[in-house]
Amino acid sequence: MKSISLFLTCLLLFSCNTTIKNSLMSKKIVIAHRGASGYLPEHTLESKAMAFAMNPNFIEQDLVLSKDDIPIVIHDIYLDDVTDVAIKFPERKRKDGRFYVIDFMFDELQTLKVTERFNPKTGKQFYPNRFPKGKGIFKLHSFEEELQLIQGLNKSTGKNIGIYPEIKEPEFHQKEGKNLTEIVLKTLSDYGYKSKKDNCILQCFDAKELERIRVELKSELFLVQLIEFPEETKQLKHFATYADGIGPWYKQILKKKENGIWKFTSLVSDAHKLGLKVHPYTFRADSLEEFSTFEEMMQTLLMDANVDGAFTDFPDLVVNFLKEK
Ligand code: G3P
Ligand code: CA
Repeated sequence: MKSISLFLTCLLLFSCNTTIKNSLMSKKIVIAHRGASGYLPEHTLESKAMAFAMNPNFIEQDLVLSKDDIPIVIHDIYLDDVTDVAIKFPERKRKDGRFYVIDFMFDELQTLKVTERFNPKTGKQFYPNRFPKGKGIFKLHSFEEELQLIQGLNKSTGKNIGIYPEIKEPEFHQKEGKNLTEIVLKTLSDYGYKSKKDNCILQCFDAKELERIRVELKSELFLVQLIEFPEETKQLKHFATYADGIGPWYKQILKKKENGIWKFTSLVSDAHKLGLKVHPYTFRADSLEEFSTFEEMMQTLLMDANVDGAFTDFPDLVVNFLKEK
């Protein structure tokens, strides 16, 4: 009798523990980084539709303004590493040899052919095993076009996949006489993204600008402070005064591997103590660097280091990993 009740107690404890684990797990989010960019050219609508089908929690948009003030979904202020701009408009390069999104009207941008990321100096594809460079027909698109795609798919599939836009280089835009942030906030508001319950996370590397978004522009959105350099992690307490989370480079979480076991910096626990979520970038199955396998990367960062989400070029793999766990 005693052993049966012990067994039942253990079973109860185990099932409670599983429930706790599951509820914690459900808080870990998958962010489709530039869409399903491991499979189709980054930031194309095709890559976003493919990502949507993989059931991430959020799909990312990097945003830059065109000459006529239309937010364009593209990773950089430059055009020449993902399009054929150098062939179509050779005379439009600046003194530094680069082609800038901001120098082109939206109509002109739409004439460009988008391709898999490459080095504009050598023409070499950045990730050799991804979608072949120069193949297929892909175009640039506006932020609004992408919002219509995601909201339309949410309606037709009954899903509720969120958006994760990034304000790119606000200082560069200001120097060019443009206000990217205010245009993006207006577009978000027009499409119903106004507060933390609206399934939108707004991110920026520029700390002054993200703080301005909260304090001066009074945004009520969920804000994530991106972190590029390790010394910025010293600002954590200040970030917590206006942001809801941080997006560090994943290497800022790793300390060293000892006898096959990863040791971590205090970044995740420090952030959690301040109530900040941690969404590191970028989980790439074809660029593992210090990890032996993608499974090791996911296990180490998502489970052992206990981060709250992952920016990934391979949303299907991270969604499956979390589902199996
Ligand atoms: O925004 C977070 C993640 O995208 C890392 O930055 O350079 O890929 O835009 P980046
Ligand atoms: Ca980004």
